[in-house]
Amino acid sequence: MTKIFDWKENINELELDEISNAIKDGKLVIFPTETVYGIGASIYNDNALKNIFITKGRAQDNPLIIHVSSKEMIKDVVTDISDIENKLIDAFMPGPFTLILNKKKHISNIVSANLDTVGIRMPDSKIARTIIEKSNTPIAAPSANLSTKPSCTNLNDLLEDFNNKVPYIIDEGASKIGVESTVVKVINGIPTILRPGKITPEDIYEVTNSVNIDKNINEVKTGKVESPGMKYKHYAPSSKCLLVYMDNENDMINEINKHITKNTYVIGYKEHQNLINTNNFYSFGSINNYEEISSNIFSLLRKVDRNKPELIIIEGLKKEGLGIAIMNRLIKAASHNYIEKLDK
Ligand code: TXA
Ligand code: MG
Repeated sequence: MTKIFDWKENINELELDEISNAIKDGKLVIFPTETVYGIGASIYNDNALKNIFITKGRAQDNPLIIHVSSKEMIKDVVTDISDIENKLIDAFMPGPFTLILNKKKHISNIVSANLDTVGIRMPDSKIARTIIEKSNTPIAAPSANLSTKPSCTNLNDLLEDFNNKVPYIIDEGASKIGVESTVVKVINGIPTILRPGKITPEDIYEVTNSVNIDKNINEVKTGKVESPGMKYKHYAPSSKCLLVYMDNENDMINEINKHITKNTYVIGYKEHQNLINTNNFYSFGSINNYEEISSNIFSLLRKVDRNKPELIIIEGLKKEGLGIAIMNRLIKAASHNYIEKLDK
């Protein structure tokens, strides 16, 4: 039986006691963050950590992010923080940002998947930080979704993947941001984005005067990569998807209309609903509002998938700012079935 705690209005103190005891006892807790929900366990309980991998069906060589509630807690788990890394911590923590740092020796190899580094994230979510603080331990948490599936951003989606498979789910309603944190590693003194997110390359450049984007962010790679997550299928509905992006909006709409058959569903901008020839249209928001789109993409992919369409066609957007993260998730959701036409 999964216990569901509703903390949308406020944190219930008695339930918080139960949750922190559960974490200390090595149980799994699904909790909200501002990006997506996480499935968490104490970093100091190897059995609980193993259980995260089993419950998600996650590859053992894909490390977990360590969530902390304070800057002091970062120092408990990592070592050798450089000046530039300290600048990034001060600028973006708490927030939707994960920094890869050298782990201390006592940190379990299960969290780090045998790497010498770990991802550190201090969520902005008050609920997440309160749970960590009260449990008095950093919490390892990947996104709460079965491996390969879109991440969960609401209770309904969580129950689809985890009902009766975890003892606790804490419900805070829909996740605010809707795509996972920006993952950054400082390589040769340059902050390098290993996974794009709400914190954009421009945001990072403003703080450090330098930034790189790893060339493999949108690829599915075998062999040696900076981030093991790059090797695996992600965010994919069961139905086949086709992602279409063209700088010219009319061309994009025409291209989408060419692929529509009886059992096709389209996810696109509300402004295009009347121009796309299907009744099976779901809007993920306005063409001018990337925040709105990012908060809706994963829940919509799951919702449309439940209709078991032959094909889900998704309208893409410009890879700028938050658009880089949104397109990264959509390219992967579509397993690279992607038609793109850029003006230059
Ligand atoms: O927003 C988020 O980051 C969410 C919430 C729950 O905090 N968490 C999340 O975790 O997305 P997960 O496990 O689904 O994704 C972690 C990503 C993976 O792509 C993993 O390969 C990468 O971070 N990663 C973790 N530790 C790493 C390390 N030491 N070196 C390189 N990449 C690492
Ligand atoms: Mg994930």
